[in-house]
Amino acid sequence: MHDCVKQVIARHLSRGKIVGLGSGSTMAALVKELANLSFKSSIRFVTTSLQIEIEAENAGLETLDLSRLNTVDVVFDGADQIDSNFNMIKGGGGALLREKLLMSAANKVVILADFSKYVERFTRSIPIEVHKSARSIVQRKLDMLGGRPLLRIAENGYPYTTENGNIILDTLFTSIENPIHREIELRSMPGILEVGLFGRADEYYKVHEDGSFEVFESDKK
Ligand code: A5P
Repeated sequence: MHDCVKQVIARHLSRGKIVGLGSGSTMAALVKELANLSFKSSIRFVTTSLQIEIEAENAGLETLDLSRLNTVDVVFDGADQIDSNFNMIKGGGGALLREKLLMSAANKVVILADFSKYVERFTRSIPIEVHKSARSIVQRKLDMLGGRPLLRIAENGYPYTTENGNIILDTLFTSIENPIHREIELRSMPGILEVGLFGRADEYYKVHEDGSFEVFESDKK
């Protein structure tokens, strides 16, 4: 991953940019590398979780509050799964709401993920962020759509809550014919605040076991 991270930084960062940072272990590795960037003080960073906020602080990066921005130059992020059309499942770390918001304001979205994340069709559950009071209603509706919603539980045994104070229903669907339609369908359900199905980014880095990597550019159709 190290060579890939260095390449991404060299290719996409220049003085004066506003840069969005997603969440997860891949982003933590990228932020650690940003600590060595000679012109880092000329860049403003926007984070999507407390995890990355702390990493950014440790790396000596200047951060801006997401609520104060209406556009960013580039967003870097990881993914949980990427299908053959470059749709993504994200939200394994629970940061999906701010990640999707930031991406929606980005001129360019760049995804870094190891080879195991790239699949023909999605096989894992979709993280769905739900308001606490909507838990039972949304669970039933997801069941009716053929999903298997499971309340995410934190390591301490209590229900996991996102940084926005909501719960997550990790929902497995036997098959998702059209991820974009499914995303729209789920988002239209009252009580659902964000869905971990993401459309195409602009650029994807696929990192192999030996550290070599490939780059794919998407036409975002
Ligand atoms: C955070 O909520 C997720 O969307 C992450 O981007 C995703 O889980 C990737 O994380 P890793 O880099 O740790 O695999």
